[in-house]
Amino acid sequence: MSEKFYVTTPIYYVNDRPHIGHAYTTILADVLARFHRSVGNDTFFLTGTDEHGQKVQNAAEKRGVEPLQHCDETVIRFQELWQRLGITNDRFIRTTQAEHKRVVSEIMQELYDRGEIYKADYTGWYCVGCERFFTEKDLVDGKCPDCGRDVNAITESNYFFRMSKYQDWLIDHIKSNPDFILPAFRANETLGFLKKPLGDLCISRPKSRLSWGIELPFDKDYVCYVWFDALINYISGVGYHTDADNFARRWPASCHLIGKDILTTHSVYWPTMLKAMGLPMPKTIFAHGWWLTGNSKMSKSLGNVVNPMDMIDRAGVDAFRYFLLAEMSPGNDANFSEDAFIARYNSDLANDLGNLLSRVSKLTIRATGGVIPAPAELNADDAELADAVNAAIATMEESLKSYKLDQGINAAMNAVRAGNRYLEKCAPWTLAKQGDTARLHTVLHNAADALCRVAVLLAPVMPEKMSELLAVLGIADGQISGIAALKEFKSVAGATMRETAPLFPRIVVEETEQSAAPAAKPEKKQPKQEKKAAPETAETVGVVTIDQFFQTQLKTAKVLSAEKVEGADKLLKLQIEVGAETRQLVAGVAKFYTPEEITGKTIVIVANLKPAKIRGIESQGMLLAAKDGDTLKLVTTDGEIASGASVG
Ligand code: ME8
Ligand code: MG
Repeated sequence: MSEKFYVTTPIYYVNDRPHIGHAYTTILADVLARFHRSVGNDTFFLTGTDEHGQKVQNAAEKRGVEPLQHCDETVIRFQELWQRLGITNDRFIRTTQAEHKRVVSEIMQELYDRGEIYKADYTGWYCVGCERFFTEKDLVDGKCPDCGRDVNAITESNYFFRMSKYQDWLIDHIKSNPDFILPAFRANETLGFLKKPLGDLCISRPKSRLSWGIELPFDKDYVCYVWFDALINYISGVGYHTDADNFARRWPASCHLIGKDILTTHSVYWPTMLKAMGLPMPKTIFAHGWWLTGNSKMSKSLGNVVNPMDMIDRAGVDAFRYFLLAEMSPGNDANFSEDAFIARYNSDLANDLGNLLSRVSKLTIRATGGVIPAPAELNADDAELADAVNAAIATMEESLKSYKLDQGINAAMNAVRAGNRYLEKCAPWTLAKQGDTARLHTVLHNAADALCRVAVLLAPVMPEKMSELLAVLGIADGQISGIAALKEFKSVAGATMRETAPLFPRIVVEETEQSAAPAAKPEKKQPKQEKKAAPETAETVGVVTIDQFFQTQLKTAKVLSAEKVEGADKLLKLQIEVGAETRQLVAGVAKFYTPEEITGKTIVIVANLKPAKIRGIESQGMLLAAKDGDTLKLVTTDGEIASGASVG
């Protein structure tokens, strides 16, 4: 059954340069919209820019241009970035558009006529330096909260919206609709805020202080407060007062996605405004956490922003979309660092997903020329893989409802890792050698089928890459549209696979020479976001959890060949086989092993170590060895085992 889905992002201040914070909300909305479209839901996705107010006026003045010209020139940054990021918004609204301004004006007139807006004198505090008006509670030690200078008391007439009268209704609405504000702890924050008496909302600014805004229809000496204007975009953008059919089709919104910085305006101002207009409430307001750099919020004023374009140039659009969604658990803040980005890219995408695809494609082409065979009898290993895939589908569906997409993505990656383990365990290369065709075919089929299902699940997150992946499997674009179709889809048997270049080439970091000693500790991994920093006690110092331990992937590898590195008497350059993959590794073992001695050995390597350049030679991983004084012995396995087997 088709449902409707209407999702919004905040309309961003046109003055800011978009950074990964803005990109995050917009990508999250895009992924949700793509999911809903893919299952046939009547979907609408709105984003845009907030163009009125003091900051824009000041910025335009500084450049000596008209405010609208300033907006026209700066809005392009957002529009270009969304295009680059593959954002599929159905409309881009700008608050300076005539239609929006007319709707805001009509709403103000209606509310004024019904006595929901009234005029009153009030005293506030004015900072001459900042040309800004503050209320008593804004002040810091009686001074301007922005610049710390003295402020003057000014009595001014303004227009007020009777927000206070909806306080009890709002508390009740939040309490009786547990999905209204998500995550739930944000609803509690709003309820906490509503414990204090709610005042009326000043919705005007005298033109003598600020002229860049929508004029009040009933008093030409004032313009509308920028938030009152901006929030209305969510209804003016879908036809309120201009296209009744479209409005009836879209409103109420399914989800307003926002950052936690603008929770109060969305969870208090906006619902009371809608209530006064007699309109139904949005189903959900979802407030995610902040992207931080270091430990502070990424923001233009702090000068610590990460420019999305740089990251896209480095790793591609889809990898960037993937990283942001996978890395942030939307209830919490997340830290952005280039190291974490590259580490996750190399481990999840290059290593886990990319390798699974190239292994399956190579093995299938070798075995059948490319046609994905039909499976024969199934056993417990096959069932385990199918379970991981089914869990991924169920978790993804659930995470769409709770807006915690990182969980769905994580489950999909677990299925990928299960796919790699499955190959290692079932060893199709050995089955091929043994001539066990029935089992070989079953294993190849199941691995390809798992990949296909994961690709459909991840398609809204990485639309281009997943469509490439499906094409490698021989599945045409749109052949399996969305989760619903996935449940009906029988199997990939019969599709023809083709060879592929790495879907996600590893990112190699140029580094200053790294210690090549094999016993050297792996470079410290970017710590994953801790939900809450655990206090350091005697019990926790130096102790790692099992999850932390398994962040390091240890694998068996077979040394195919070895040679000395010219001019470095400690180093050997090894070519090693890790499952279906061949890698190069530089190790400081030349004093202890000759190339002949080490060739043919099965060793243990850290498989997900960030590649490094050692004496200008790339090393993809590190081998393990025990060292005691002048003695060094490689860590090997107790008997024959396939390369690429996981150690742990
Ligand atoms: O507040 N981490 O616009 P804005 C995560 N015009 N998300 C972030 C972020 C960060 N460090 N920085 C920004 C406004 N965002 C108003 C909105 S809506 C009717 C009017 C994202 O340009 C996040 O979605 O300051 C946040 O709520 C929004 O950008 C604020 O954008
Ligand atoms: Mg802001």
